[in-house]
Amino acid sequence: MNQASNFVEGVDLSFYIILGISVFFLVGITATMIWFVVRYRKSKSPKAKNIEGNNKLEILWTVIPTLLVLVMFYYGWTEYEPMRKVPKDAMVVKAHGQMWSWSFEYDDGRRSEELVVPLNKPVKLELISHDVLHSLYIPAFRIKEDLVPGKDNYMWFLPQKVGEYDIFCAEYCGERHSYMLSMVRVLTEQEYNTWYEEKLGKSDDPPGLQILKQNACLSCHSRDGTEIVGPTFKGIWGRNEVVITDGEEREITVDKDYILHSIYEPDADVVKGFNAGQMISYKNTISEEQIDQIIEYLKTLQ
Ligand code: CUA
Repeated sequence: MNQASNFVEGVDLSFYIILGISVFFLVGITATMIWFVVRYRKSKSPKAKNIEGNNKLEILWTVIPTLLVLVMFYYGWTEYEPMRKVPKDAMVVKAHGQMWSWSFEYDDGRRSEELVVPLNKPVKLELISHDVLHSLYIPAFRIKEDLVPGKDNYMWFLPQKVGEYDIFCAEYCGERHSYMLSMVRVLTEQEYNTWYEEKLGKSDDPPGLQILKQNACLSCHSRDGTEIVGPTFKGIWGRNEVVITDGEEREITVDKDYILHSIYEPDADVVKGFNAGQMISYKNTISEEQIDQIIEYLKTLQ
C-alpha cells in the first residue's frame, strides 16, 4: 500500500525506534527503582552503606547510552537529509503564510487557498511569511517546516496517494493561530490539469472580496457583525466610529481616506475598544486601486 507521501515510512520508522528505546528505558528504570525501594527498605537494611567504584558499570553506562544516541542520530539523520534535497523536476509552489491564513501561488501568479497537486510529482514549497513565524505542517505527509520572515526556506514532498490532507500552522503566531488551516488535495494528473486550467485563481467572488481573502483580512474582520480581532466589516462604510489618535479620542466617519489610512497605517487611528499592534501595514501589498475595489465591496455589506 502506498503511503500518503514519500517520507511517511522513514519518519515513522525513526519515530518508532526512538519511541521503542524510550519506552524500554522508562519501564526498565521504573522497575529497577521499585525493586530498589523494596529491596533496600529501612526494615531490611537499617544502616545506609556507601558503595563506591565499579569500573565495569562505569564503562557500560557510558558506552551503551552513547551507542543508543548514535542509533537515534543515524535514523534521524538518514530520514531528515532527503527532506532537504529537492528533486530537480519538482513543481514549485509558493506557500504564503500570514496572520492568519495560507495561500498557495502557482508558477503564473495565480493563487489558491488550498494546495492542489498532481499525484506522483514532487512538489517544492517555497515558504514565505508576511509577518511573523509560522510553521507549515502536513501531518499525513510527516513534514513540517518554519516560515521565517525575511528568510528563504523550503520543503518538498512526493504525494503518493489521491486524497485530502490537513494543513496546520504549528508555530504559535498570535490570537487566531488555531484558525490557520488549509488542505492539500492530491488529484490524478488529468484532474489536476483540468483544475489548473479551469479552476485555479478563478472565483465567483467580487474583486474586492478576493483581495480581502488573499490578504487574510477576514481572519480578523468579520462580515456578519461578530467582533474578532478587529472591527466588523458589516455596515462599516459610512459608520461613525470613535478612534484613538495619539492617545486622544475623536469621532470619525468611515470614508475612503479613513479606510486607506487604516490599511497603510493600522496603528494611527485605532477604533476604541480594539488593540493597536495587531495589524501590519499593507502599504506594499495592497495598491490604491485595490483599495477602491475593497471599498466597492464593503459598501455592499450593509
Ligand atoms: Cu501561523 Cu500559527
